[in-house]
Amino acid sequence: GAALATVVFVAVGSTVAPASADAAPGKPGAPRYSAGAASAGDPYFPDQGNGGYDVQHYDLDFSYDPATRFMAATATVTAIATQDLDRFNLDFRGPAVSAVTVNGHAHDFTRDGQELIVTPRPKLKTGHTFTVVVKYAGVPGPITDPDGSIEGWVPTDDGAFVVGEPQGTPAWLPTNDHPTDKATFRFTAKVPAGLTAVGNGQLLSQETRDGWTTFIWDSTEPMASYLATITIGNFLVTESTTPTGIPVYVAIDPRQVSGSAAAVAQIPKMIDFFATMFGPYPFASTGAIIDRAPDVGYALETQTKPVFSGPASVGTMAHELAHQWYGDSVSPRRWSDIWLNEGFATYAQWMYTEYNGGASVSQTFNSSSNYGRAASSPFWQIVLADPGPEEMFSNIPYNRGAMTLHALRGKVGEDAFFRILRGWAAGHRYGHAATADFVALSERESGQDLSDFFDVWLFQKGRPTTW
Ligand code: ARG
Ligand code: ZN
Repeated sequence: GAALATVVFVAVGSTVAPASADAAPGKPGAPRYSAGAASAGDPYFPDQGNGGYDVQHYDLDFSYDPATRFMAATATVTAIATQDLDRFNLDFRGPAVSAVTVNGHAHDFTRDGQELIVTPRPKLKTGHTFTVVVKYAGVPGPITDPDGSIEGWVPTDDGAFVVGEPQGTPAWLPTNDHPTDKATFRFTAKVPAGLTAVGNGQLLSQETRDGWTTFIWDSTEPMASYLATITIGNFLVTESTTPTGIPVYVAIDPRQVSGSAAAVAQIPKMIDFFATMFGPYPFASTGAIIDRAPDVGYALETQTKPVFSGPASVGTMAHELAHQWYGDSVSPRRWSDIWLNEGFATYAQWMYTEYNGGASVSQTFNSSSNYGRAASSPFWQIVLADPGPEEMFSNIPYNRGAMTLHALRGKVGEDAFFRILRGWAAGHRYGHAATADFVALSERESGQDLSDFFDVWLFQKGRPTTW
């Protein structure tokens, strides 16, 4: 991962040594082949992501039998070379690979940790589109995170719960696993008849033959790999539309129906409220997947359809749907920017609570789980803009992130604040952005120098006292 990446960057940046025997430094325009970086360079997860190419589309065609937990899969990755490549990596922690082809040519490959290393021949020139096909089969499984939680491919009593933030998707799909490389996705999932496979995007077809049902799910807007899901189980499915016409697909484990009824009923109202506040809903459809995966214990804002490991509360549903704007459409450039996801979704949840007749956002800001925490609490002892991989899903990015937004609202006023929120969604739609971009946008929209403000809220430890 990181060590190899450093070496590779040196080779790419070098103007002296040809990166490979095929390089012809004297001839202008002649290809200069080298290996793509083995890392996206994100310090929280240095093995994640790769360099040298930009994925356009992932197509995964697979079967899965919950009785044996056996998966047989063919993944087709379409990418554009961003340098002349004689080698590149994909991130993959899934079952045994039997074959890799690039543009139809079979290739040797090696695996090293989460790196699937491919040496394409013919080599790949900058700007050319290429297609990688990876065939694999076996039993995929979960991945443990720095905070001890699990993600990836999590078998359940009737299927599999599939989540990937921040590093779970390579458990079942070879990817360029970093939010800075978004792509469209299509999943063709074959499962025993009676079960439902639910993916991101829209259902193109569902067909049962010889005791197996094949579902085809199509994600038409760019998506970060950590937001992919193809969750499988015994689900009740309901389809409807919001008042403004967005299709809603809800799949729910029958054991979660009563505990999730209020949250499910409010999905259309939440989507429309957030669209009024943040700008148009960014995707072609919405919904939710409410499963039973007791060992997971959290929900995830999987794109278009958040997935819940237990009964969905109204607050968590609002949080995950708000992430469709903040987190999914606009993703973090680095994992240290996680407050841009979790703080925004938490603040949206506070706003929805107020809209729905509950506590006002000011009351929530001042409560004992937020600003009311003692200044001596460990809660204030971590830098919000760089919480580290163990704390990235603790209440620090969530609650202090939301507090930062509420304090900003007081500082810049209602009009500028909502221009900032909408501008953030519109300006980085389907892309990614960093904390510095948010600071710059806030200063531009408010006309204020906010360096001291953001310093105390984002970059310093301790409970802010004046801002
Ligand atoms: N982003 C999710 C949420 O706030 C939480 C994901 C937690 N992931 C983890 N591996 N612990 O809705
Ligand atoms: Zn969240």
